[in-house]
Amino acid sequence: MAATVYIAEIARYLGQEVTLQGWLYNKTHKGKLQFLMVRDGTGLIQAVMFRDSVGEALFETCLALPQESSIRVTGTVTEDKRAKGGHELQVSNLEVVQRAEEYPISPKEHGIDFLMEHRHLWLRSSLQHAILKVRHEIIRASRDYLDNLGFTLVDAPIFTPAACEGTSTLFETNYFDSKAYLTQSGQLYMEAAAMAFGKAYCFGPTFRAEKSKTRRHLTEFWMLEPEVAYCDLEGDMQLAEGLLCAIVERVLENRQEELKRLERDLSKLEAIKKPFPRLDYDAAAQLLKEANAPFIYGDDLGAPDETLISQQFDRPVMITHYPAEVKAFYMKRDPQRPDRALCVDVLAPEGYGEVIGGGQREDDYGTLLGRIKAHQLPIEAFNWYLDLRRFGSVPHAGFGLGLERTVTWLCGLQHIRETSPFPRTISRIYP
Ligand code: 4AD
Ligand code: MG
Repeated sequence: MAATVYIAEIARYLGQEVTLQGWLYNKTHKGKLQFLMVRDGTGLIQAVMFRDSVGEALFETCLALPQESSIRVTGTVTEDKRAKGGHELQVSNLEVVQRAEEYPISPKEHGIDFLMEHRHLWLRSSLQHAILKVRHEIIRASRDYLDNLGFTLVDAPIFTPAACEGTSTLFETNYFDSKAYLTQSGQLYMEAAAMAFGKAYCFGPTFRAEKSKTRRHLTEFWMLEPEVAYCDLEGDMQLAEGLLCAIVERVLENRQEELKRLERDLSKLEAIKKPFPRLDYDAAAQLLKEANAPFIYGDDLGAPDETLISQQFDRPVMITHYPAEVKAFYMKRDPQRPDRALCVDVLAPEGYGEVIGGGQREDDYGTLLGRIKAHQLPIEAFNWYLDLRRFGSVPHAGFGLGLERTVTWLCGLQHIRETSPFPRTISRIYP
């Protein structure tokens, strides 16, 4: 009996008869010949079927078989230099597992709303497949990088009692007799974890009720958040730089084929090397002024400002020392300039903008308590967080890397929505 194999490993079976289990991706025919494109999730292969070798009945069944029908195909693996992947299958038998209904997604152009409505099927197309392969590679690379540095993965909760990144983007939910909020960031919990493990990180879904409909915002996205005890802003920036370089390097190494399918300009990614340029907020503001951007000094950088700045560099740029006013309550202030936060945003090049936000945390009990009050946050919900400053407080820092923003950048996409298998935006929660 023929061995059942995956297309990805087909080269090992040259000259042998094998069975593939997959789906009919596409087909053409010419007289006594049919060319079936078969995909199985690991690859794509052309299966060549002769009327004479499979018989009249099966040949006719296949001629009428709709796209995306599930099939088991048996045949001999041959070499074909012209074929994608270099191999073909000479079909001896085919079993229809399920004859699909007329498939809604054809190779012709569809509008984005239609495709999003059919996201569960759209995932099968080669570009979406390539994007999610890159996403997986980024996750693996990130975790390997931190694991190899001795970080411990400590999962943060999703139901939380309070805001981390400001109250305006909180999703509220009923929690038995009280209220809870979906987490905006695992950071506060990672600060507790850093005091227990030295170096810790979480990687999980985070939620923001972002009212803005932009190409950079999702309401549910995944964040990788390392946090390090006895670390300052400088150490934090070096960690961010190292992480991004490791991710880019790994994606270039293992996902060349996918990047090419996405028509990504590889030279742009090959340029991502340490050191990254650094600008403080004032230098960034100066750059915007010179470019005549409608930017108001003292404000946070907006998406167009980030785009403008990141277009000036061939690698990620690190912007530091924002006015403390525009940043979160937990940020430590620069002792040299107390109106500035010891924070960093890393903007990806080519106009992609912020992929990382982080910095050094306020570690003094009294100061932090004052900030919580000044931001009118509920003290009761932050007692545990304040405890971290009462029992062995140390300087510490960390950051959050937005996974989908990173995928958008590395894949060279126009919009963040295709980087999530099932994206959640202000206007979409189906499928
Ligand atoms: O800059 P942010 O808000 O930082 C934090 O949440 C910190 N507490 C993280 C930390 O220090 N541990 O978010 C971090 C990153 C952003 O740089 C961006 O990449 C991503 O999360 N992000 C979003 N991605 C998609 N959709 C959204 N609505 C996002 N909001 C933030
Ligand atoms: Mg930010």
